Amino acid sequence: MQGSANLNIMVKAARAAGRSLVKDFREVENLQVSMKGAGDFVSKADIAAEAILKEELMGARPTYGWLGEESAEEEGKDPTRRWIVDPLDGTTNFLHGMPHWAVSIALEHKGEIVSAVVYDPAKDEMFFAEKGQGCWLNDKTRLRVSGRSRMIESVFATGVPFGGGKYLPATLQDLAGLMPECAGVRRWGAAALDLAYVAAGRYDGYWERGLHIWDIAGGVLLVKEAGGFVEPIREGQNLLEDGHLICANPDIFPAFSKVIRARE
Ligand code: IPD
Repeated sequence: MQGSANLNIMVKAARAAGRSLVKDFREVENLQVSMKGAGDFVSKADIAAEAILKEELMGARPTYGWLGEESAEEEGKDPTRRWIVDPLDGTTNFLHGMPHWAVSIALEHKGEIVSAVVYDPAKDEMFFAEKGQGCWLNDKTRLRVSGRSRMIESVFATGVPFGGGKYLPATLQDLAGLMPECAGVRRWGAAALDLAYVAAGRYDGYWERGLHIWDIAGGVLLVKEAGGFVEPIREGQNLLEDGHLICANPDIFPAFSKVIRARE
């Protein structure tokens, strides 16, 4: 696909941050002896990746606003556009030496996400989308959500809150309702990739509560442009600001959302 100038800037930035993260990821394995040492190292890797993204994205578009997981929010001279960035989604995987994490970049215009990149450097998979232009993987492959319509054949993804997270009881109830009905539930620990995998038809659906806007801003556009449905879990919630999200292919969405919304 021939992307816009902004999309090309985003892809270039994601690759630059990805190169830095891959280099640091190789180091993490040597640091596993001391988790504290590894934790500090990973947060430095995360901050360094965000600095690269900021230099590339704000360098190319200095008037845009900025919202990143690791740095202060900035309003741009152009108040209608902002970058929403997670330099390292899947931090816990990265820290434990598991190659499943991503760089996520979204461009918002007038309150709507118009371009998105989710890059998995360990597998060199670049997922991207622009509003009205479809969703793509590595330039050549146009992505479509899956066509499964039977719950018992469908695989879903979620995130289970850790460390006493507020939404743990609700998520466990969801799992109790969903698991007997479906072919499997995965919890791989990177929301941006969970959304990209729904767009790619690998997962049939995904839901999670209490996400941050930078975890999902890019991935939501991927799913929509691949033909999927994305909604807040409860009617009236703001999808990106509240971060309670459910998405799936249109055929399975009604049955899947019925199970997840049963206790709302
Ligand atoms: C986390 C991941 C994880 C999700 C958490 C997020 P981070 O993002 O996306 O899958 O379950 O809610 O906070 O901290 O690795 O950028």
